[in-house]
Amino acid sequence: MTTTAPPAPSAPAAAPVFKPGLEGIIAAETKMSFIDGEKGVLEYVGIPIDDLARNSTFEETVFLLWNRRLPSKAELDTFTAELRANYELPAGMVQRIESCPKDATPMHMLRTMVSALSMYDADADTVEVAGAGKKALAILAQTPTIIACFDRHRRGEKFVAPRKDLSFAANFLYMLNGAVPTEAVARAFDICMILHADHGLNNSTFTARVITSTLSDVYSALTGAIGSLRGPLHGGANEEVMVMLGEIEAEAKKQGKPTAEVVEPFIMGRLQRKERIMGFGHRVYKTIDPRATFLKTFSKQIATDTGNLKLYEMSSQIEAIMAREVGAKGIYPNVDFYSATTYHSIGLKLDLFTPMFAMSRISGWSGHILEQLDGNRLFRPAAKYVGPHAAKYVPIAQR
Ligand SMILES: CC(C)(COP(=O)(O)OP(=O)(O)OC[C@H]1O[C@@H](n2cnc3c(N)ncnc32)[C@H](O)[C@@H]1OP(=O)(O)O)[C@@H](O)C(=O)NCCC(=O)NCCS
Repeated sequence: MTTTAPPAPSAPAAAPVFKPGLEGIIAAETKMSFIDGEKGVLEYVGIPIDDLARNSTFEETVFLLWNRRLPSKAELDTFTAELRANYELPAGMVQRIESCPKDATPMHMLRTMVSALSMYDADADTVEVAGAGKKALAILAQTPTIIACFDRHRRGEKFVAPRKDLSFAANFLYMLNGAVPTEAVARAFDICMILHADHGLNNSTFTARVITSTLSDVYSALTGAIGSLRGPLHGGANEEVMVMLGEIEAEAKKQGKPTAEVVEPFIMGRLQRKERIMGFGHRVYKTIDPRATFLKTFSKQIATDTGNLKLYEMSSQIEAIMAREVGAKGIYPNVDFYSATTYHSIGLKLDLFTPMFAMSRISGWSGHILEQLDGNRLFRPAAKYVGPHAAKYVPIAQR
């Protein structure tokens, strides 16, 4: 008689690890962006970000992220035409945006209106990859229209319909200002869109993937991501940078001193009070963010061209103080630091900085949504319970 050997004892399960903020935990695979935080490297599908910023366009970059390869000329033309065909909002959306309170925060408005788009889509719940991709394309194309429509509404100006003969970047500035931008300004904005398109599993991207993993819809995932992005520790930092630069200028005016003399005591005061300097530090980069390296040179050039070097000079002075004071801790400028001065130099309003970040990042979020759908596994981490056990229920009258 043969006997079956008893099963080998299974290896003891590794003790679950608790990492506050999930720091260093790998929670998903992606083929879109690669980051080396120690060396300051960012690549989209293997191509250094600097190379893309210099040579690509936002449309081509989105194709690259979504298809994991550069397009042929014909493919890029088709993709661009599809994007442009979706610039217009569904009937009724313009009135919906124009019914928003004029003093609403643009990010609250954007989050609400991206969510509202789902009500105009009879097939909103599709989570099959190709169908979800079509929705992502439409939402990406319509987000600039939503932002520009709202900005004009709050200024009491009439809606300017999108123009299909203009690029994503130029069309947005056209709808915002009612005039086609110069080539230099449109290109500057296009580059900002490229630089913000994707960035690994940052908080908002993770949010989009977590929502997608329940097989909820693309609109919900993007709405949640917008909510995450607006936090001051994430995309909201670029607005905070401008607020800080404005405070320094106001302080200089108050004291009747040149701005350069006020920067040092202002920054040192903040650091001594243990306050954060917005636009510095990053969970992943422990050296200068490569997007900031590019934007630094770029913002200097734009500031020189537009004759407005004051903010750029103030920014470089802050960068030098921060390198001296906290460089050893790996605190360097991140993408938000010089994007603030770049946006300001091309005449964009402060409270549109984060919506513009969202407008670009919808491409990255969407790529991650599609990656998540392709081989989905529900996100369901565990919490470490640190409360009491076997506690007694005390009736309310006895508490
Ligand atoms: C982005 C950010 C949240 C990453 O933070 P993190 O990885 O959790 O880093 P920590 O909060 O652990 O900070 C590590 C140390 O650096 C310091 N530090 C981090 N960011 C700093 C900043 N912006 N200004 C001054 N000191 C900063 C912290 O005070 C801490 O110092 P300590 O060790 O002496 O206490 C953080 O750097 C920050 O708040 N930056 C400002 C907001 C910003 O620009 N966000 C945009 C990110 S793209």
